[in-house]
Amino acid sequence: MKLLPMEARHISRAVEIERLSFPDPWPASFFVSELENPFCRYIAAEDEADGRLMGYAGFQYVLDEGYINNIAVSPEYRRKGVASALLEALIEMALELGLSFLTLEVRAGNAPALALYSVFGFKPVGRRKSYYERPREDAILMTRLLKPEKAGSEPANDNIEEI
Ligand SMILES: CC(C)(COP(=O)(O)OP(=O)(O)OC[C@H]1O[C@@H](n2cnc3c(N)ncnc32)[C@H](O)[C@@H]1OP(=O)(O)O)[C@@H](O)C(=O)NCCC(=O)NCCS
Repeated sequence: MKLLPMEARHISRAVEIERLSFPDPWPASFFVSELENPFCRYIAAEDEADGRLMGYAGFQYVLDEGYINNIAVSPEYRRKGVASALLEALIEMALELGLSFLTLEVRAGNAPALALYSVFGFKPVGRRKSYYERPREDAILMTRLLKPEKAGSEPANDNIEEI
């Protein structure tokens, strides 16, 4: 597996992976605007054998807050550590940017994603009722606090309530 910054050439395959992964898949235009946004960071995982896109993940940041907007792995490459490698790379980039946390929303019934995030230290911090449509479902908010080495102290999390 090769990790590299996601590029425009990855978008058509990413749209296929979206259709195989989500009931509300992103169209190409969403990827175009994310990749053009200077406050977004997206990583692609390619199969080293044939250069095929295996999966991708990315976040947007505002000040010291990071929001993971998307992560997906093509079905034939799942349970092989691809998402783990992508998440590790995102966390490393978030630390380099000095972000205080990474956060995301996940469908309450998306057991694989919930399991993946908890392995990486994301904690459930809230629930948005009926956030998703087709099918209607709650979103679980999960946050991973980051500890930039220079800070040396725990980031403030007084407003985060465990659920
Ligand atoms: C969620 C998703 C990204 C995981 O990708 P992946 O490359 O298969 O994940 P990994 O192989 O890195 O898995 C790492 C760990 O996550 C957990 N996990 C991943 N998939 C799981 C599953 N189907 N069931 C239970 N646990 C799972 C396991 O703990 C796993 O470690 P293990 O394989 O050693 O048991 C993938 O299933 C996917 O693309 N799903 C559709 C899109 C999606 O739901 N994205 C998240 C939106 S919030």
